[in-house]
Order: sequence, then C-alpha cells, then structure tokens
Amino acid sequence: MTTVMYGDGLAHQMRSELAEEVRELAKKNIQPGLAVIIVGEDYASKTYVRIKKNAAEKIGIYSRVLEFDESLKEEELLAQIEQLNKDEDIHGILVQLPLPSQIDERKVLESITPEKDVDGFHPINVGRLSNNQPGFIPCTPYGIEKMLNHYGIDVAGKHVVIVGRSNIVGKPVGQILLNKDATVSYCHSKTKDLKKHTLQADILIVAVGRANLITQDMIQSGAVVVDVGNTYLESGKVVGDVDFDEVKNKASSITPVPKGVGPMTITMLLYNTVLAANQSLNESSMESTD
Ligand code: GUN
Repeated sequence: MTTVMYGDGLAHQMRSELAEEVRELAKKNIQPGLAVIIVGEDYASKTYVRIKKNAAEKIGIYSRVLEFDESLKEEELLAQIEQLNKDEDIHGILVQLPLPSQIDERKVLESITPEKDVDGFHPINVGRLSNNQPGFIPCTPYGIEKMLNHYGIDVAGKHVVIVGRSNIVGKPVGQILLNKDATVSYCHSKTKDLKKHTLQADILIVAVGRANLITQDMIQSGAVVVDVGNTYLESGKVVGDVDFDEVKNKASSITPVPKGVGPMTITMLLYNTVLAANQSLNESSMESTD
C-alpha cells in the first residue's frame, strides 16, 4: 500500500502549537511580527503573499505587507529593509522572489539582518546550514524534513536524489538531509540521462517546476517521492513535477500536489518567525544583564 504524505495535517498540528507559543510570548509582552515585501504584480507571488499574511494573522503573528510598483529602484528597497532591520515590532523580514530585473537579488537578501532572515537566504544562514550550525533554515526544505520525519522516513544512509539545484529548495534540502547522514546526489538541467540517476533514488525530491516531468519508469519500486512542483495549467488545475497518478502505484510514499509540501512551507515560515521573536527576547534579556 502506498502512503500519500499529506502536509496539511502536520501543518495544522504545528500551527496550533505555534499559536500556543504566540500566546505564551504575549504574556512576556512580545508579539512576533513579520514583514513581507512584494515588488510588482506577479499573480503567483501575490497569491503566496496573501496566504502568508493570513496564515500569520490566524496564529496571532502581527503581519505587515509592503507592496511596491514593478519600477521600484534598488536603493528604495534597500532603504525600506534598513528601516525594518531597526523596527522592534518586526522579527522576521521576507522579500518575495523573484524581483524585477533592475534589482540585484543578492544585494537585497544580504541587506536583511541575519537575525530577521526568516527565509534563511542570507549568506550567513546559508553558511550556518552548510556547517551544520544553528541558524534560519529555508522554509520549503525545512518543511520537507519535518514531513519525512512525521511519516517515519529515516534518511540516514539512504540515497537521496534531488532534481533541481535552486537556492530556495534544491541546494538547501540536500544540505539538511546530508546533515542527517543521507547520501545526496543533485541533478539539474544539464544532467545527462536523468532517468539513470532518478532510478537510483531511495528518496527522490523533485523541485524544478516542470509539470509531470517524472514518470513511473523513472523511479525504482518502493521509492519515497517528494514533489515540490507547483504548475498552474490553463484549466486552472495545479500539478506537480511528478505524474502522481502513475507514480503512486510504484512508490512506497508520495506527496500529492496540492496539499503536500505547500502547507508545510507556510508553516515553517511561521515557525521561523516565532523562533526569531523568541531569540530577540533572549538577546534583549542578555543586554539587560550587561
Ligand atoms: N518565491 C518562491 N518561493 C519563495 C520562498 O520560499 N521565499 C521567498 N521569499 N520567495 C519565494
């Protein structure tokens, strides 16, 4: 029997626990605050930002969305981030990607103070993950780790094959699972004979954004399959990178799209924001004892 690994149940459970933590923080006069910056009118980005804001408010996080025109200058965005870095009501700052071409994404991500970098994209946090030190971990990869754990899938010694090498998902998920003793291989658009590699996966993670790229002939029987794809078809249907109907008959466990990894991404953003608020509390108590 194949296990369909839904993310919404775990997401719901974790969000209830986070809401409780937010109530505990309120007793110490602190409300976690999240600022989300969006530049331009991209439909998918606007949808994600709306979902993030609603999810944050639902568990008692203060959320502030800053919307800017597509023509925004880089200096203006950097000045906004500088303000938010100093703002005591804000514990987490997220800049929705992608950004318009006149803005240097790297420069923007590096301008966010690492203590408020709830996306985990600042080089300091990227380095901490690479060194297996505590820091903010990017939300989608972190959600995947929590899901595998929740469904009792131990990665130690397993061959994890990742299709996709983005800074947002592919690279960091490999590092998280490497830190947990998995053997990790990366595939990408220049990989020759993709199928040869995917067939070797005990755990296959696909994050490229190409509808139904992975078919049942590309996986070994009993593999665990995690689908991070999210493609809107013209019909309005959302599909992943894996041909779910075919592959589910051969996999031992598989995430669906929607209701798979998606709800966990938002949950880990809330988790990181509450963590940032807790850490700010510890920092200010350390300051007060100086
Ligand atoms: N765009 C697509 N995924 C993400 C994400 O996880 N964080 C941000 N900031 N932008 C994204």
